[in-house]
Amino acid sequence: MKERYHGFYATRIYLPFSSISRRWRRFSRRIRGKQDSALQTTILPEVCWADCVKVSVPRVWEHKKENGNVRISELAILSALAAGCREGSTLFEIGTFDGRTTLNLALNAPGTCRIYTLDLPPDQAPKYQLADGERHMVEKLAPGSRYEQYRSKHSAEISRIHQLHGDSATFDYSPYKGSCSLVFVDGSHSYDYALSDTRAAMALVEAGGVIIWHDYGIWEGVTKALEELEQREHFGLRNIRGTSLVIWRKK
Ligand SMILES: C[S@@+](CC[C@H](N)C(=O)[O-])C[C@H]1O[C@@H](n2cnc3c(N)ncnc32)[C@H](O)[C@@H]1O
Repeated sequence: MKERYHGFYATRIYLPFSSISRRWRRFSRRIRGKQDSALQTTILPEVCWADCVKVSVPRVWEHKKENGNVRISELAILSALAAGCREGSTLFEIGTFDGRTTLNLALNAPGTCRIYTLDLPPDQAPKYQLADGERHMVEKLAPGSRYEQYRSKHSAEISRIHQLHGDSATFDYSPYKGSCSLVFVDGSHSYDYALSDTRAAMALVEAGGVIIWHDYGIWEGVTKALEELEQREHFGLRNIRGTSLVIWRKK
């Protein structure tokens, strides 16, 4: 079964090697006194992915990454988290893009879960300024093209995906508040959006549920927002080792 093979490759081969390579790049730049804007120095404590999930070999569909997607190791961890979600609960993603993660959430989550995914329509003016260089991810014909390709083969799972359209800073989250076993924050990477999406995610997540943020240590706005929050509130945010994911589980 190739989905398990991709999950095995992602967590047992890709993740350890990318983790070593990331450490080496940070170390080598530090001793040469060089800055890498796409690989910042980070301060959140690390946690091993295997300590965050119950599934040992997750299943991964659409292993090929496009510019804007998460890495395969991150996709496998999100898939494993989805597999552990509470029956009948809601999974909420901020930032659909082509729907590769949405697809994996839907195919891995228990069959009684609903998946909501929100994306900014290209013709809607955002409340805050987007980060430099991310407009191309907004400018697309429609969000979710990759999960749409699975509609005939996996109709039951894909019918549990609900595509939402709007600006994450002004969206009305009230129907979903406190009901989400998994919230994935991967919309705009500007500081203002990282803060506002984090506030929304905190309101969405249920007791025992998790929030995952993407692009920590990669996009400056995300890194700054999460580190400031942790320094101020001491929530216990953790960076999943070898990835740009940050995890927090609500007590
Ligand atoms: C990095 S991509 C998401 C990638 C996707 N989660 C994945 O794993 O493949 C960011 C997405 O966030 C959307 N986005 C940007 N600003 C937004 C906003 N203010 N509200 C909602 N979505 C936004 C963009 O249109 C883009 O599709």
